[in-house]
Amino acid sequence: MPKWITKPFARPYVAGETSEEALLQVKAINERGFSATIDILGEHVANKDKARNITSQYCDLYRLIDECQLDCNISIKPTHVGLFISLAEAMVNITSILKHAKDYNNFLRLDMENSPYTDQTFEIFKHCKSIYENVGVVVQSYLHRSLEDVKQLSAVDFNARICKGIYQEAEANAFQGSEEIKENFITLARALATKGAYAGYATHDQDLIDQLLAWIESEKIPSDKFEFQVLYGVPMAGRLEELKNKGYKIRVYVPFGPDWFDYSVRRLKENPNIAGYVIKNMFKNE
Ligand code: FDA
Repeated sequence: MPKWITKPFARPYVAGETSEEALLQVKAINERGFSATIDILGEHVANKDKARNITSQYCDLYRLIDECQLDCNISIKPTHVGLFISLAEAMVNITSILKHAKDYNNFLRLDMENSPYTDQTFEIFKHCKSIYENVGVVVQSYLHRSLEDVKQLSAVDFNARICKGIYQEAEANAFQGSEEIKENFITLARALATKGAYAGYATHDQDLIDQLLAWIESEKIPSDKFEFQVLYGVPMAGRLEELKNKGYKIRVYVPFGPDWFDYSVRRLKENPNIAGYVIKNMFKNE
């Protein structure tokens, strides 16, 4: 797929190629009253030197975030920093990133990739948690296993992002219908709240946000126990300001980096809906 075809699809959703460009976008997001999480685009790195280079870029990002006094943490994909090579390589690199998170009193989120990596990602998460408390993971509501994972991991200091899940998964592992996936999203939110855990509700689905709000308000879920999360550039038709005005926290996920092209092509191939969203969004006003 040539770059000129992909660039229009990627551009609204990628905050530049360099950390300077991305941190400028984070500053603007903070000025709107929202928090951010930043991610260097890429995954499935097969080369140790490259995985270590990305690792040191992440370590440096914590310093830059601190210097610029931004309200921003970091999200990483485990296969970007070693898990595609081996669990041991990922453990070493992610431990090093986590030490920088600790030095700068910041937070690290492990994104969740496709199901061949789920167990290992939870294993890395548990190892991280034994070193530093400010670390979180992701549960995908399309996976049948997620409720069990939440039940096993949940505690007052557990921090999970809930999302629907972006990869193609087999029926044996995952719900396929959009209603079941949404229902399970709410089930996971309830399970986390029951244990007093912290949740990031990562969705742009307006109906799901309505359902979450109705539940939050009827159950009086404390607002310091959750936040809403959205991807950079996805139009939300004023919804974020509305949530902010209700006193709820919003976090914008900001991806950047030179690998935007490969990443976008993979996403487009994996989930052609993304192309449909972009075209639909071109004709919508924010
Ligand atoms: P849905 O797919 O129904 O989309 C609702 C509407 O949102 C669409 O109609 C469209 O307008 C808009 N929209 C959604 N996604 C868009 C996109 N990419 N571009 C443009 N418009 C879009 N997944 C995963 O497997 N592991 C992870 O770690 C994460 N992390 C993550 C963090 C954050 C902050 C978010 C918001 C999402 C993720 N995801 C993820 C992706 C997630 O699993 C899911 O695939 C997308 O959020 C789309 O699902 P929605 O709940 O938004 O609903």
